[in-house]
Amino acid sequence: MDLAVALVLCLCSLLLLSLWKQSSGKGKLPPGPTPLPILGNILQLDVKNISKSLTSLSKVYGAVFTVYFGVKPVVVLHGYEAVKEALIDLGEEFSGRNMFPLTERTNKGNGIVFSNGKTWKEMRRFSLMTLRNFGMGKRSIEHRIQQEACCLVEELRKTNGFPCDPTFILGCAPCNVICSIIFHNRFDYKDPIFLDLMEKLNENFRILSSPWVQVCNSFPPLIDYLPGSHNKVLKNVADLKSYVLEKAMEHKASLDINNPRDYIDCFLIRMEQEKQNQQLEFTFENLTATVFDLFGAGTETMSTTLRYGLLLLLKHPEVTAKVQEEIDHVIGRHRSPCMKDRSHMPYTDAVVHEIQRYIDLIPSSIPHSVKRDVEFRNYIIPKGTEVLVSLTSVLYDDKVFPNPGVFDPGHFLDESGNFKKSDYFMPFSAGKRICAGESLARMEVFLFLTAILQKFTLKSVIDTKDIDTTPIANGLLSVPPPYKLCFIPL
Ligand code: HEM
Repeated sequence: MDLAVALVLCLCSLLLLSLWKQSSGKGKLPPGPTPLPILGNILQLDVKNISKSLTSLSKVYGAVFTVYFGVKPVVVLHGYEAVKEALIDLGEEFSGRNMFPLTERTNKGNGIVFSNGKTWKEMRRFSLMTLRNFGMGKRSIEHRIQQEACCLVEELRKTNGFPCDPTFILGCAPCNVICSIIFHNRFDYKDPIFLDLMEKLNENFRILSSPWVQVCNSFPPLIDYLPGSHNKVLKNVADLKSYVLEKAMEHKASLDINNPRDYIDCFLIRMEQEKQNQQLEFTFENLTATVFDLFGAGTETMSTTLRYGLLLLLKHPEVTAKVQEEIDHVIGRHRSPCMKDRSHMPYTDAVVHEIQRYIDLIPSSIPHSVKRDVEFRNYIIPKGTEVLVSLTSVLYDDKVFPNPGVFDPGHFLDESGNFKKSDYFMPFSAGKRICAGESLARMEVFLFLTAILQKFTLKSVIDTKDIDTTPIANGLLSVPPPYKLCFIPL
């Protein structure tokens, strides 16, 4: 038998096997496009813009459907009702995470983002509490952000009104907020340790969003046996963790249990307490993994939001002028903006919400999985099945946000100009896995943007009608196109 015939026979059997597997599962998994053997539905998905492909498929298969990434079935939730029913009404069942081969090697089931069970519950609860109540230290979280906002404004002043790409400076500020919370220490934007930390986080983010890593995640043995950029990720994670460990040891030597200075101190104190209770979650492995997760989840997300936000404000000078009018009226030019101001600034609040809605930062959230066999809308989703949540479908719902593709702060204002809340505002996802840094992130977006607009006029280097706000990448995060602008002091 020649090779071609053998190949065709082989493919036919795989096709039959795959069709049999699919039909034997009928009445179980939700419907979806017929998958090809081995490849699944990958040819029907635009890997550069999965979210858009999912929206097209939802028009054929409805709000809950199955797509195959290779041989792996993934259930997709599309639209507010399905997302709410799963993540909120059946929150516990849908709160699992599957390990990706690379995160399995970096986190080993520790930390928050990719952990499950008791580790996840304990680490998440502890981090939420520490991020929310850091009033126990001398400086509250809000104060730390305000201090960083002042430094950010000073750095922007140094650009002397010349055109600049804001990416680097807008990356430093949120990274420093996390440093200040974790290490009780902010860095100068030129400090080599800080630059190294930022470079490693950036590099990891770039690599983790690359197609090569998707290949590694689908074929785990590649990670152990092939050279490639994934090895750099492992090396960067190891370096970052050993830096955190070094800091933890320094903290341990000067720990005052009655006066914790930062997140590491709080963790060390808890470690001592839990040691007596025979609790094994508060370990050095979990400390380093959790700190790494906070850096990983809290820097690129924030800096991209700020960068995209400024681009939208440049594109819409009439919106920016109204925000500045409100800042002048409520805060004035001389004192730092604070969170109390927000309730007196409905227009600015609406603009901040509209930025987050419009940019749709994490279009398909972080994949969930079901923790046990779940009956959902007459289907059975087996334990461990991956679940993709289309946040785009909620943030761009045209019943609630008419003309969702248009940037319009009116989406969050009522007829009298008051701020209007919406359950469909879901950039942080929903349910038990909702972003653990939401309150921190909301403070940062409001305080950083108002601090910038209080002190500068934003000037575009091109005609505003030529500014393109279409994202250049839509994979893990929506990334705005590169641009330059001038910060003209007020
Ligand atoms: C604008 C900024 C941000 C956005 C839009 C955002 C959005 C998200 C989203 C969509 C998720 C996935 C939720 C899910 O699985 O359903 C998430 C998870 C997470 N975020 Fe954020 N995030 C932001 C900033 C931050 C910050 C500043 C921090 C912390 C310092 C943070 C920490 C986390 C953590 C720890 C998780 C994992 C939660 C878990 O698995 O239990 N995020 N975020």
